[in-house]
Amino acid sequence: MNRFSITLALAACSAFCCAATEPSVTPIPMRVEMSAEDAGFTIDSLTRVYIDAPDRDAALLEEQLAAAGMGHALRVCDSVDAPRINFRLKPVVDGISSHEGYRLSVSGDRIDAEALSPAGLYYALQTILDLKESGGTIPAMSITDQPRLPYRGMMLDVSRHFRDKEFVKKQMDAMARLKLNRLHLHLTDAAGWRIEIKKYPKLTELAAWRPQKTWKEWTDNGARYCNEGDTAACGGYFTQDDIRELLDYAAKRHITIIPEIEMPSHSEEVLAAYPELSCSHGEHGSSDFCVGNEATFEFVEGVLDEVMELFPSQVIHIGGDEASKQAWKTCELCQKRMADEGLMNVDELQSYMIHRVEKYLNAHGRDLLGWDEIMEGGLAPNAAVMSWRGTEGGLRAARDGHRVIMTPGGYCYLDSYQDAPWSQPEAFGGYLPIEKVYSFDPVPDSLPEDAKPLIIGLQGNLWCEYIPTAEHAEYMLWPRMIAIAEAAWSPQQRRDWDGFKGRAMAVSDRMRKAGYTTFDMRNEVGNRKEALVEADHLARGCKVTYLLPDSGLPAWHNGYPASKEATLTDGKRGGWNYNDMLWQGYMNTGTRERLDVVIDLGRVCDLSSIGADFMQICIPDVWMPEQVTISVSDDNKKFKTLADIHHTVTTDAGVSFKNFGWKGSARGRYIRYRAMAKQGFLFTDEIVVE
Ligand code: ACM
Ligand code: ZN
Repeated sequence: MNRFSITLALAACSAFCCAATEPSVTPIPMRVEMSAEDAGFTIDSLTRVYIDAPDRDAALLEEQLAAAGMGHALRVCDSVDAPRINFRLKPVVDGISSHEGYRLSVSGDRIDAEALSPAGLYYALQTILDLKESGGTIPAMSITDQPRLPYRGMMLDVSRHFRDKEFVKKQMDAMARLKLNRLHLHLTDAAGWRIEIKKYPKLTELAAWRPQKTWKEWTDNGARYCNEGDTAACGGYFTQDDIRELLDYAAKRHITIIPEIEMPSHSEEVLAAYPELSCSHGEHGSSDFCVGNEATFEFVEGVLDEVMELFPSQVIHIGGDEASKQAWKTCELCQKRMADEGLMNVDELQSYMIHRVEKYLNAHGRDLLGWDEIMEGGLAPNAAVMSWRGTEGGLRAARDGHRVIMTPGGYCYLDSYQDAPWSQPEAFGGYLPIEKVYSFDPVPDSLPEDAKPLIIGLQGNLWCEYIPTAEHAEYMLWPRMIAIAEAAWSPQQRRDWDGFKGRAMAVSDRMRKAGYTTFDMRNEVGNRKEALVEADHLARGCKVTYLLPDSGLPAWHNGYPASKEATLTDGKRGGWNYNDMLWQGYMNTGTRERLDVVIDLGRVCDLSSIGADFMQICIPDVWMPEQVTISVSDDNKKFKTLADIHHTVTTDAGVSFKNFGWKGSARGRYIRYRAMAKQGFLFTDEIVVE
């Protein structure tokens, strides 16, 4: 992932829940409809369970009941002894249209769970467990509950740092409790190939191993691979037996594992093992397959054959993101392919590959899923799109009739800081507190009614470049994945942050007791204090003139305009993330010039301080200024320098903030603020004048 920018749960209640108040139970995701009555049901040693479902599903329900500590008291029976819990599959269940939906009715002597499919019964059980966990007697009630979206997913990047199958199983346990049903495994990327492919053994003899443990050390040392068995070899992969074990574990929990095999880019590890598949036939660090070479398709099809043999998933993720496409422009084979196929540009060459792979998958009864870049150059006819670069691509794909999974970076990229960066382990960047994750509505009202059902899913993604350990990965996933679970399951009108917050804390507590490492929402610092209140100062609302456009340079970087000319004097301060539309970004190549503005205060004023905060986060190339000059004038012609600040820019980990300003005593109407950089981007949010 070369991203520079990084651009809702309880058990629910019934359709005809006639009764009055909602019980004070704490399941997640929040159920669709629920009604509560007075009496209740207590699960105790006399409780019987009757399970009317196929053996495998009944066994699974029993297993989970036992794991919840109810097993010794419960048994499968067909007697009508009260009290009892009945699990029944039915061809029709009132108020339920989804095979994952269920109805629960709780009375003084029984709980009846009904569903159209074993998945529905499984989710009914999760809700019963939630209700039981909230303690004592389960209030009498009826619940009619079904998911808003059929695809409720989590993505784990096991390439950047390999995680073993026990870790993956543990995360699936947590997912299943929250009614999450898709685990997307990012199995291949530059940092390591993580699945055994019998036809291409070098993928796991070489491309799964590196001499450095962490991704950071690995990239700092030239991103080289080593052989399995070398004394320094770090990494690993899932054997095909491991994959079968994970698939079996997932199936029992009604989770579909979706494999991702990256193409045409993010494939440095493949091209290290099989250099003939790159345009250069060997240059270290090539990321893109040669699309002109038939051998590429033979390889991809060979890999997909084994992947399809293993994974029952209807969709196969083929990546498709962030192709450089540079080598294709000069590669003879790629150029010949473009000429032969009448392709106008390299975007169409990428599209050619995706169409061809889609045909291959379709011929084998599967569907293609890819990151939203697969839309560039023309989207393959049956492809489904994962919208990560914001929501616009996904909304467009849905309007064009394609299925879409929403996973926009600004709401779903769990590698972002979840709290004040200084309080957190180093992260990729960004700032994504759980409240923001929860605020996302994957199916906006603005979408035409006929396109809405095409938004089939929501997914949280955990990219792991900066996440070297299993504990750290869990910490980044939980509790934010709880918010994804509720946003994907519960109807928009049933969601509310305050209620969710308490429920999410209860779930996190339960998870911690069960041995998960989770971020503790009770200790949350929150956003940067400056961002919480508007700044009132002398220059607020004053006109700002950008001087750099006079010499042909942009006033600000197109990607980070914030509120354009209003940004620096609107009183709105930025938060922990430069991407919050409150920080304005500046970037020019070949010059140190970044920001040069004049603020007109409207009249000559007494001045005591002038300053602006800058942010530094080296990973995405955001730096402190190297020099700032602040000057003042009465006539906007003759300026007197108040401060000329020189700063030694250092490469520090994490995110830092620093004010570059002047303090003293002066008079003037016009203030010029100029900032220069040694490298990369500068970001500031406000020029505060007192
Ligand atoms: C991505 O983050 N490159 C899909
Ligand atoms: Zn080529």
